[in-house]
Amino acid sequence: MDMPTTHRTPARAAATGDDTTGDDRDRKVFIKTYGCQMNVYDSQRMADALAADGYAATERMEDADLVLLNTCHIREKAAEKVYSELGRIRDLKTERALEGKTLTIGVTGCVAQAEGKEIIRRAPAVDLVVGPQTYHRLPDVLARVRGGARVVETDYAIEDKFEHLPAPKKAVVAKRGVTAFLTVQEGCDKFCTFCVVPYTRGSEVSRPVEQIVAEAERLAAAGVREVTLLGQNVNAWHGQGPDGKAWGLGRLLFRLAEIPGIARLRYTTSHPRDMDDELIAAHGDLETLMPYLHLPVQAGSDRILKAMNRKHAASDYLRLIERIRAARPDIALSGDFIVGFPGETDADFEDTLRLVREVGYASAFSFKYSPRPGTPGAEMDGHVAEQVKDERLQRLQALLVDQQQAFTVSMVGRTMPVLIEKPGRQAGQRVGRSPWLQPVIVDEKAGGIGDIIDVRIMEAGFNSLHAVPA
Ligand code: 5AD
Ligand code: SF4
Repeated sequence: MDMPTTHRTPARAAATGDDTTGDDRDRKVFIKTYGCQMNVYDSQRMADALAADGYAATERMEDADLVLLNTCHIREKAAEKVYSELGRIRDLKTERALEGKTLTIGVTGCVAQAEGKEIIRRAPAVDLVVGPQTYHRLPDVLARVRGGARVVETDYAIEDKFEHLPAPKKAVVAKRGVTAFLTVQEGCDKFCTFCVVPYTRGSEVSRPVEQIVAEAERLAAAGVREVTLLGQNVNAWHGQGPDGKAWGLGRLLFRLAEIPGIARLRYTTSHPRDMDDELIAAHGDLETLMPYLHLPVQAGSDRILKAMNRKHAASDYLRLIERIRAARPDIALSGDFIVGFPGETDADFEDTLRLVREVGYASAFSFKYSPRPGTPGAEMDGHVAEQVKDERLQRLQALLVDQQQAFTVSMVGRTMPVLIEKPGRQAGQRVGRSPWLQPVIVDEKAGGIGDIIDVRIMEAGFNSLHAVPA
């Protein structure tokens, strides 16, 4: 979905003093987030659960009593990177011990799910390992850790974790900004042969409509203007509406658009197979739905798509794009690509380039195939030499960068609504987002944070636009 990023949770909730050890000083948690937007969302929800348990969030590991690494398992050597980070944190724990103080170390996220108790075996300084389906149990896990236990919680809980996770306080949401993520779906049943997600996030689960609407209403009440619905297969979301009918993501988007204050909706990440007619139509009929769609295709050769178990041919994807563009002609498309999947020939790779030229992407992420233990791809014959993968990636990225640049430059001279999100890097500036997800830099007098203002694009940088009020 996107490149690994590091995120430090900005939440800073007040301690409640609810301490089972009787230690009444403020406790602090530092959460380091790796990977996709869902991990960013999960880290916020963990911070909310821990705030209710008396932990204030800190952005400095050195100040923390509890360090959580919220990990991602999608890239090669992900687990090894976690182990080396744990080595550094262990040193901090040792220093603390010499001062007679404690530091609790936890691993959460997809590496926690995949490695389980192996983490405690290899990194004995770790006190807790909690998988993505059991974050609501964190306060209980911490109580057990304080009682001297090492805890590994990686089962798929039968209870609904979202029902057990406390809602964030209004002030905390407001502090996080005017855009927010909202997980509506988790897990994946597709089993693409390169991917670990079905093993780390489990099978597809959709959150019920009422829960999602209630969370979106809380976000709106705290000043959020733009909500991005998240799911590993977000467009596979389905539920039962209050009308008793089966709803798909398109219908859900219409419902969320009714919430006062919500001015913009987005969703990510989608699978081509799950783009149904109603969702495609929503792109034409629902003004609140932004004209940007991340729709990974991974490769352009049918042979490779089949080996990847993508369940669609290149022509299916191209037809789908045509239908989406018929509904919303100005939609910007983004995708994910893998080069060097086992068995990929030069001709297969040329098919990928051809597909990219035909679609024209506004942005994209591209990766060299890396075998992930436990996935069918890792066991396949015909692994491609590293040097060939490098060359293919360079050629593909050069094409994608050209397309992205052409898209950015095409904005110059246009007038568009921009949601002002935050102060700019330079004094006197603010940064907003175009409907197509591009950062737009404007003078701070142009509008306040949370305002949607019409601007005229004057100049295009590599990745951002400069604008003046229209
Ligand atoms: N090798 C390379 N890229 C991968 N991705 C997922 N698994 C692998 C892998 N084993 C890419 C896919 C996916 C994105 C999130 O990461 O393109 O869409
Ligand atoms: Fe992974 Fe494929 Fe599922 Fe996406 S659809 S999460 S790539 S298995």
